[in-house]
Amino acid sequence: MLHKKRKMLVTYALPYANGSLHLGHLAGFIQTDIWVRFQKMRDADCLFICGCDGHGTPIMIQAEKLGIAPEKLVEQFRAEHAENIKGFLVELDNYHTTHSSENQALVDMIFKRHVEKDNISKRIIKQAYDPEKEMFLPDRYVKGECPRCGAQDQYGDNCESCGATYTPTELKNPYSTLSGAKPIEKESEHYFFKLQNFKTQLHEWTRNGHLQAQVTKKLDEWFTVGLQDWDISRDAPYFGFKIPGEENKYFYCWLDAPVGYIASFQNFAERHPDYKFSHYWENDSKTELYHFIGKDILYFHTLFWPAVLSGADLRTPTAIFCHGFLTIDGFKMSKSRGTYIKAQTYLEHLQPEYFRYYLATKFNDQIEDMDINFDDFTQRVNSDLVGKFVNIASRCASFINKNFDGKLAKKMSKPELYETFVKEGDSIALKYEARDFNQVTRQIMALADRANQYIDECKPWAMIKNPELQQETQAVCTLGINLFRLLAIYLKPVLPAIAQKVEAFLIVSPLKWSDKNKPLLNHSIQLFQPLAQRLEKTQIDAMKHAAQDA
Ligand code: MSP
Ligand code: ZN
Repeated sequence: MLHKKRKMLVTYALPYANGSLHLGHLAGFIQTDIWVRFQKMRDADCLFICGCDGHGTPIMIQAEKLGIAPEKLVEQFRAEHAENIKGFLVELDNYHTTHSSENQALVDMIFKRHVEKDNISKRIIKQAYDPEKEMFLPDRYVKGECPRCGAQDQYGDNCESCGATYTPTELKNPYSTLSGAKPIEKESEHYFFKLQNFKTQLHEWTRNGHLQAQVTKKLDEWFTVGLQDWDISRDAPYFGFKIPGEENKYFYCWLDAPVGYIASFQNFAERHPDYKFSHYWENDSKTELYHFIGKDILYFHTLFWPAVLSGADLRTPTAIFCHGFLTIDGFKMSKSRGTYIKAQTYLEHLQPEYFRYYLATKFNDQIEDMDINFDDFTQRVNSDLVGKFVNIASRCASFINKNFDGKLAKKMSKPELYETFVKEGDSIALKYEARDFNQVTRQIMALADRANQYIDECKPWAMIKNPELQQETQAVCTLGINLFRLLAIYLKPVLPAIAQKVEAFLIVSPLKWSDKNKPLLNHSIQLFQPLAQRLEKTQIDAMKHAAQDA
């Protein structure tokens, strides 16, 4: 049967360009990358697109503090992000920025279409304003005393001391965190996106297989409360795109941020003319479109974004995949505890694949938080990767290398065992597709146990001493190497660099999923080189130390 190639576009959420990436960001990228690499091994035409989110008040303020232009800040972090992402072996097709000409044109086009359809309204609202700094203040820039318990220096939405929730106007003795001045209330005209216009459509879309069941349930709470108009404008000073026809008003960064997915695609497509806007983004597109995101940005992606797209006559996503947050040794990332680990700090001390593997043992398709426990991390890496997986090859390769001139036998000792491993590949593939990487790694390690058990039973190290069992020893080791090769195929989306070393060791072209069906027989291999080192506690400690100082 002739299979049509799957055409897919996958994105990960665009990180803000006012800071370095930490392990939490990387977790999301790695989850996405594992899935994308799996799709590519299965012959899909799968693009992985991302970029940095370059707009908004925090970026403007940060640039001001550093005395540089916001454009420069964005470009610096864009470059740093791209390098860190690559450092973790995440294979992006493009890392662009929302502050780009492509994005500006797209946002204008989308806005115009919504205006024409009467999906935009204008009205005057009152907001906190810093009279000294002469700017409107987003909630997080107003602090004061908690109206309930009187704790000092609390944010405008809730009290960290007693847990009360309230609005910024209820704070006692409020002050602007930018100037210290007392905020006043000031009126301004804003643009609103009428989310209500999409109510019926969204209600249906959110329960038609595009979202995880847990997410649909969460959205139900929002539907019950009622969909609110969405404020999509901000007053100057602001770093963003100007609203057409306005002098002092800008689009809110969350309007142009997801459009940045399309812009990054466009920027890629300019260099790769086979990839056409119409095939990917127009209403009748047959291409699959997936957005991976963290749970904190659900609302933007599951309600606003599909509404923004469909109202502008663009296609909606095939699915949104949402993941939970990462904690480190049981804690939120915090600088003082040394649990705020920058991507760069990790890379200076440990191999990226150890993090990729450990994360894979944690990920499923749920949105619960995941804890990175570094004792458990060390143990998993040492026992699974070094003790189970790599061990299979190191136990068999030496005999092939030394006694059989580096050549695998024409037959394996127990082809049925190979066939069993091949069959399991099909259910492993289903788990990859479902993003159930935890079950993927479990199943693979159970197979690794079986392979090691078989070698234990045969004892090639004893067999080799018996001149009558030479051929049989070669057949046993040939099976062992072939089982190892299968596991390398199954692990390749998680461990791409180790897989590359395996390819060199076996002298084969880049492994694809379908390679599992045919064993390597009567084939020369290279001298075996260690594929992974044991992880020592001292390495972890050194990294944590560095994280505290970073
Ligand atoms: N700029 C927006 C996204 C715009 S998408 C059109 C944003 N940026 S972010 O830098 O705050 O977050 C980027 C991604 O990292 C999000 O998916 C977010 O959920 C994820 N994470 C941030 N901290 C995280 C953890 N501690 N753990 C897991 N993911 C985390 O939101
Ligand atoms: Zn309080």
